Amino acid sequence: MLETLRETFRARYGRDPELVARAPGRVNLIGEHTDYNEGLVLPCAIDRATFVAAAGRSDGRVRVVSEGYADAAEFTAAAPVRRGDWVDYVAGPFFAFAERGLAAPGLDLAIASDVPRGAGLSSSAALAVAVACALREGSGQALSARDLAELAHRAETGFVGVPCGVMDQMASALGEPDAALRIDCRTLATETVPIAGGDAALLVVHSGVHRRLAAGGYAQRVAECRAALAQARAAGVAPRARALRDLSPADLPALERALEPVPFRRARHVITENARVDRFAGALRAGDLPAAGALLREAMASLRDDYAVSTRELDALCAAGDGTPGCYGSRLTGAGWGGCTLHLVRSDAAERVAESVGAAFERAFGRRPEAWRVRPSSGVRILPGGPEDVRRRSTPL
Ligand code: GLA
Repeated sequence: MLETLRETFRARYGRDPELVARAPGRVNLIGEHTDYNEGLVLPCAIDRATFVAAAGRSDGRVRVVSEGYADAAEFTAAAPVRRGDWVDYVAGPFFAFAERGLAAPGLDLAIASDVPRGAGLSSSAALAVAVACALREGSGQALSARDLAELAHRAETGFVGVPCGVMDQMASALGEPDAALRIDCRTLATETVPIAGGDAALLVVHSGVHRRLAAGGYAQRVAECRAALAQARAAGVAPRARALRDLSPADLPALERALEPVPFRRARHVITENARVDRFAGALRAGDLPAAGALLREAMASLRDDYAVSTRELDALCAAGDGTPGCYGSRLTGAGWGGCTLHLVRSDAAERVAESVGAAFERAFGRRPEAWRVRPSSGVRILPGGPEDVRRRSTPL
C-alpha cells in the first residue's frame, strides 16, 4: 500500500513526498461512552492504519487526494472552510493548529488507508491524527503525540462538529504494541496494560451496518449524560460532581430515587462501565482471561439495556461469540448503532470463533460478516517519504 501511495503522490504532484505519517485505527476493549463523561477507557491501537504522504508548498495552499474517494480537494491552510464530507477530517487539523496559534504551512497530501470506514474502528480519528502529524513535521513545531491527539480531537469537535470524547485520537496517537492503553479522560494520563501473554487474541467482527456519529444518536447520549448529571446535582445526590465520572456504584440507589428512568439508566451504564475498566485491567494484568471475558459480557448487557446503543446484528454477533468455546467474552465496540463487535478469544481458537460467529450471523441475516484478528500496535509515527529520505527520516515519535 505504501508504494502505491508514493506512486499516487508522484503521479498527482510530479514529485516525491517528503514524509509519510502513519496513524492507526483503534479498538476499544472496555470503557464505552465514558470518555465524554471524563472517565476511564481502555482501547488499543490496531495494526490497520491511515497513511498520509506529504510535501511542503510555499503558497499556503493545501491539495489533497485520497485513494478512498474519487474527488480531490484544495483549501487554504490558514483558513479552511467546512464542507461536510471526508475532507473535513483533513482540514480539521489545520483549523486546530490555527486556533492554537500554531503556524500551518501549505502541503500537498495523498492519503491511503486500510482501516475499514464506518466500522467503529476510528478511521476518522486515524486520518485526523495522521494529518496533524504530517502538519507538525511540515511546520517544524515541537509537539508531543498527546498534543497531536488533542489537536485531532479539537478538529473533530470544533471543525467537523461531532461532540466526541478524546479516546480515539489518544489511542491512535499513543498506542503501544501488545498492550492496551488505560486513559484517564479527565487528566489524559495514560498507562499501558499488557494484553495477557500469547494466550489472548482480539477478534473484531463487522456487523456490516455502517454508522455515523453525526447521525444524532451520539449527540443525544452526550446530552442525556449532561442532563442526568444536572438532575443528580440538583437532587443533592452529588452536589459537587463535575461529571458522571465523579459518581460511584455506591451512589446508584440514591440516583435511582432522584432520576427519571431513562436518565437513570444512562447514568448507571456510565458509572458501572467506568468501574469495569480497572477491574478489566486488573484481570488482564493477572492473566485471568475468563474474568476479563465476564466483564466484557457485563459491559455488553449494560450497553444494550441501559445505554440502548446495540442493534439486532450486534446482539447476534455477541451471542454467537459467547456461545463458542475458546471465546472468553464479547461486546459491541465503539459507539454502537452498528459497526463492530470485539471478542476476547484464546489465541488458538481465533479462527474457529470467527468461523462459528460468521456462520451463525449468516444463518440469521443471510450474509457473511467480515472478521479480522487485530493486534495491538504502536501509535502515530513518521515513515520515510521517498527513497532519498530513507536515511534522513525514520523517526518514531
Ligand atoms: C466514539 C467516539 C469516542 C467514544 C466512543 C464511545 O468512538 O468517537 O470518543 O465516545 O464513541 O465510547
